[in-house]
Amino acid sequence: RELQGHVSVILLGATGDLARKYLWQGLFQLYLDEAGKAYNFSFHGAALTDTRQGQEFIAKVLESLSCPVDVAPGRCAELKGQFQRLSGYRRLRTREDYMALSTDIEARVQHEGLREAGRIFYFSVPPFAYADIARNINSSCRPGPGAWLRVVLEKPFGHDHLSAQQLATELGSFFREEEMYRVDHYLGKQVVAQILPFRDQNRKALDGLWNRHHVERVEIIMKETVDAEGRTGFYEQYGVIRDVLQNHLTEVLTLVAMELPHNASSSESVLQHKLRAFRALRGLQKGSAVLGQYQAYSEQVRREQQKPDTFHSRTPTFAGVLVLIDNLRWEGVPFILMSGKALDERVGYVRVLFRNRAYCTQNRERWVAGQSPCLPRQIVFHVGHGQLGVPAVLVSRNLFRPSLPPGSWKELEGRPGLHLFGRPLSDYYAYSPVREQDAYSVLISHIFHGRKDSFITTENLLASWGFWTPLLDSLAHEAPRLYPGGAENGHLLDFEFRGAQLCFSQQQPERLVPEPGS
Ligand code: BG6
Repeated sequence: RELQGHVSVILLGATGDLARKYLWQGLFQLYLDEAGKAYNFSFHGAALTDTRQGQEFIAKVLESLSCPVDVAPGRCAELKGQFQRLSGYRRLRTREDYMALSTDIEARVQHEGLREAGRIFYFSVPPFAYADIARNINSSCRPGPGAWLRVVLEKPFGHDHLSAQQLATELGSFFREEEMYRVDHYLGKQVVAQILPFRDQNRKALDGLWNRHHVERVEIIMKETVDAEGRTGFYEQYGVIRDVLQNHLTEVLTLVAMELPHNASSSESVLQHKLRAFRALRGLQKGSAVLGQYQAYSEQVRREQQKPDTFHSRTPTFAGVLVLIDNLRWEGVPFILMSGKALDERVGYVRVLFRNRAYCTQNRERWVAGQSPCLPRQIVFHVGHGQLGVPAVLVSRNLFRPSLPPGSWKELEGRPGLHLFGRPLSDYYAYSPVREQDAYSVLISHIFHGRKDSFITTENLLASWGFWTPLLDSLAHEAPRLYPGGAENGHLLDFEFRGAQLCFSQQQPERLVPEPGS
């Protein structure tokens, strides 16, 4: 094999929760996919923790890594051993620590007789630590000429448009735009990553359908059963809109709504088209949203944040938002975004529901004779969980037979008795991934391959905050409707359109969040 160089990955916050749960596994997957191809690797776990503690932590994490199911246990142990030999821990605090790291990498590369290809710095640290780290990397740990630098950042990227702008300006003083990879882990979910390729591969079938004449509405849903316990400090500052609608659900929305570029595999075109979709979003009004809060939330905040007994939080833990798009394709089509904690089920999906007229007319005689009910026509990108339990792409059989990339998607086996959106699974063409991969493994691979369209550019980030901030400001003093949480809240959170407004369908039973001062 001809080696083209050495790539170093530096994981900052290597002893944190995200690193333990996902990032080390993602790096191991990168090693499994790429080792033996064009590059040599080294993996540097870094944190503020002292060296011995850090080493022990990492040794444990590396031991717990898992191999894909088709790798035999003996081979897996061998691969883990190789990965462990390439991985280490170091404390990174001062500028001198960063300089020493850089010198070590250079020595390693020289020893291998290779050139340095690039360095990836993964910031798995809270945003207040960004500036210091960024300054140190920029001044003391950039790779030499000809090698690339990629820095990977985790949300939150600000709290509103202004703070996002400030953070972006600060980071922009250390890194060039093309060096920054802002993560939205939803873009790494296999089904979300499939939306554009699906639209591209089924261009012909979708050409006349993907527009206001045929689409009745689009639902982008992320329901969670967990609540915010243990995270109320964070949640009080953010709430559900900032936590998931501004980022995950909006990103998904743009993938559905954007014009399909001529070349859907060009990162640059995808990013440009996405930005245009952002710019076509109609400004939100107060009445575009319904807000809820699960009943136990305020009590959890009082307990965790040592608040007085009289404290009642106004942070929404549930939101439904009606988004409209001002362009010829989508004029008047409701895009409904909805997410909440402590709900009745854990499920995430995008559902494009088509109008039924065409189908009903085609089958008019049988329909009139009562033989063929008007079947709903829909395309569902099922992100995961729920009754189906796996990620899947589903297309109603009365729409068209979709094509998915051979090799990576397989037809989902029928599950008798399973109904999705009121129809048995047999009513759909349904596909699931051949190999399920978690979002972080997918994203780490995209970072390595420099696929910028799976990440949030500064323009994209600011466009999204620009869209959400006026609504957040106007809702700042609204009292969300309280809901019991768990299985019981279903009907309380149903909503409907009234004109261009979104309203809860049920009358509010009683005012549960007291007015301030009452
Ligand atoms: C995170 C949010 O970004 O996404 C969490 O901060 C949320 O509140 C999580 O629970 C959901 O992600 P997933 O992958 O579990 O659906």
